[in-house]
Amino acid sequence: MNLTPKQIVKYLDDYIIGQNDAKKTIALALRNRYRRMQLDKELQEEIMPKNILMIGNTGVGKTEIARRLTKMMSLPFVKVEASKYTEVGFVGRDVESMIRDLVYESISLVTKEYEHKIQDNIEDEVNRQIIEKLVPPLPKGATDSAQESFIKTFNTMEKKLLSGDLDERKIEIELPKKTKVEIIDSNLPMDMSSVQESLNNMLGGLNKETIKKEVKIKDAKKLLRSEASDKLLDHESIKLEALKRAENGGIIFLDEIDKIASGKNNQNQDPSKEGVQRDLLPIVEGSTVHTKYGQVKTDHVLFIAAGAFHVSKPSDLLPELQGRFPLRVELSALDEDALYQILTNTKNSLLRQYIALLDVEGVTLKFDDDAIHAFAHLAVGANEKAEDIGARRLHTVIEKVLEDISFDADEKSGETITITKELVYEKLEDIVEDEDTARYIL
Ligand SMILES: Nc1ncnc2c1ncn2[C@@H]1O[C@H](COP(=O)(O)OP(=O)(O)OP(=O)(O)O)[C@@H](O)[C@H]1O
Ligand SMILES: [Mg+2]
Repeated sequence: MNLTPKQIVKYLDDYIIGQNDAKKTIALALRNRYRRMQLDKELQEEIMPKNILMIGNTGVGKTEIARRLTKMMSLPFVKVEASKYTEVGFVGRDVESMIRDLVYESISLVTKEYEHKIQDNIEDEVNRQIIEKLVPPLPKGATDSAQESFIKTFNTMEKKLLSGDLDERKIEIELPKKTKVEIIDSNLPMDMSSVQESLNNMLGGLNKETIKKEVKIKDAKKLLRSEASDKLLDHESIKLEALKRAENGGIIFLDEIDKIASGKNNQNQDPSKEGVQRDLLPIVEGSTVHTKYGQVKTDHVLFIAAGAFHVSKPSDLLPELQGRFPLRVELSALDEDALYQILTNTKNSLLRQYIALLDVEGVTLKFDDDAIHAFAHLAVGANEKAEDIGARRLHTVIEKVLEDISFDADEKSGETITITKELVYEKLEDIVEDEDTARYIL
């Protein structure tokens, strides 16, 4: 992960409109991880990540930024909702499980990378196994001519197999019997999960037998693949690399952090929320968490917390916790222009999604530019009249306009439908104008 801050911001720009401060802060934090890793060990230990607190109204892109980051990075990343956790000793998830989740992420990420590296070997192994089924090896002491014809058949078969000519042919393969119930529940406390681990191993060990199955060669390729990769992968190095990656590159996105805020100056003070905050302290500060793959030090894990802070304020969090999120960024409310940009200038824009969906039915959907402006305008109106739900309002507004078209799209195959400003107003104006209907319908 050695993208420069500018490159990171540029990538985010493709999907998220505005919110430049947040993008910049996050890009910098990520770059600083990279910079740190280039230093000598001693200095590395000294440099702590600067955790970030993102504050902003609902629907302005907080979670979206996190989602995009996940897709971009080859770093272990988990997004968790703070409100899901409960204090240790109560029923529910304990906060340490987020570190275990991070390690699972890391393992699966590193496994994929390693698999990619030995992809050719895996393929060779799979093909070798299939060919052995098709052309059984010669018995010892076969005559020269038998050997010669064997090699010939083998080569033709190999060629056919590689070109896919044999894909439809059926062969019998052996697969390990899957009696082993692989339950990975990061929520189990450490000692419980190790009990379970040994139970799994025991059950697995008892059932080393295989089952025979007749399948098409193209399916055999897939079925044998995971076996082969399992056999060829160096699981020990994967584990070590994954733990290292989680410790030094791991990012935890703690969404909805405002939901666990409950300060002294707040009426709805809730001791269990405060308990969760207390449990969070050591993890954010840096402590050691046991996972089934080994111990993980959380000192250098980067935490990005986000919350709307409507009811509570950042100052309602325990002072110690506030102090552990030194970087604050505020995301701004989205105005009409921003909403218009979101509809027109993002890679995954809603309009594109609708166009693609209706295209499946053979309907060509078009939006007049005026109509798009109308969407943005009316969405802002509805946000003002009812609650401000940010860009999410676009979903409801557009859905309302396209509802009928979408409903009988299957009967309109071959047609082109253009959404005009007039249509948008006709469908929405009355609803938006009236506060009560806006509240219920949009
Ligand atoms: N600045 C933005 N640019 C592009 N799309 C956005 C932006 N803000 C929000 N969206 C879109 O709006 C939807 C909701 O955004 P998101 O999930 O990020 O909200 P949030 O800020 O996390 O709100 P909440 O506090 O309710 O969790 C997403 O589908 C996202 O695509
Ligand atoms: Mg969110």
